[in-house]
Amino acid sequence: MNKKISINKIKQLKKTKKPFCAITAYDFSSAKIIDKLDIPLVLVGDSASMVMMGYDSTIPISMDEMITFVKSVANGIENALVVADMPFLSYQSSVESALKNAGRFLKEGRANAVKIEGGFFVSKHIESLVNYGIPVMGHIGLLPQSINQQSGYNIQGKTEEDAQKLIDDAKSIENAGAFSIVLEGIPKNLAQTITNELSIPTIGIGAGPYCDGQIQVFHDLLGLYDTFVPKHAKQYVNLSNTISNAIQNYVSDVKNLRFFSNNK
Ligand code: KIV
Repeated sequence: MNKKISINKIKQLKKTKKPFCAITAYDFSSAKIIDKLDIPLVLVGDSASMVMMGYDSTIPISMDEMITFVKSVANGIENALVVADMPFLSYQSSVESALKNAGRFLKEGRANAVKIEGGFFVSKHIESLVNYGIPVMGHIGLLPQSINQQSGYNIQGKTEEDAQKLIDDAKSIENAGAFSIVLEGIPKNLAQTITNELSIPTIGIGAGPYCDGQIQVFHDLLGLYDTFVPKHAKQYVNLSNTISNAIQNYVSDVKNLRFFSNNK
């Protein structure tokens, strides 16, 4: 039986009025763990640029690097919808480039949908992708690919004018055919207004409790990446310490001739 979550199922989650969870993933093993949980959507985020590749922002990661992460996640997921994040300059320059690169994510990476950062100016790209059968998730507010233009990781939509622009952006993305939209780093009341005005689900990160769903970065939840910890990150465990202790035990067992005890 096909248990795969469709974009229609994601859209219907808005009607339940119960918040749902989404999470990022970048590899087969963690994707398999996530897919056993009640998580309908897994994003292969371009945050891979920082947490997997060690670059200092999401800007450097390439399509080829992202394709590898998308493939590994898709191999580990049977149930959740797999969304591939389109990296910087893989879609901005033309609708054709968006189509070519989003197509690669579905064809080579076996993703089910793509995510694109930006407001009104990407609505033409979204419309074309959707017309050609590629589901799109929007992403507005704090845009990590635009940190140079936004002067860092700053909350967006704080003035009345900026808030209205984000509301208009959200509507143009919905009208272009996106099936959901990420709201990142915006005031909670603005996120509530956008959530109420759209018929597609909003998925918040640093956007308060009134979104239809929440998304978090895998490494932030598990304490696996401390180079840059965003304010909105909620850490449930410090796996860096746990892993370090376990490997230290291994090192010490080998050095102290305990590794082969118990006939192993
Ligand atoms: O790249 C990413 O991980 C993201 C999420 C934070 C929404 O875009």
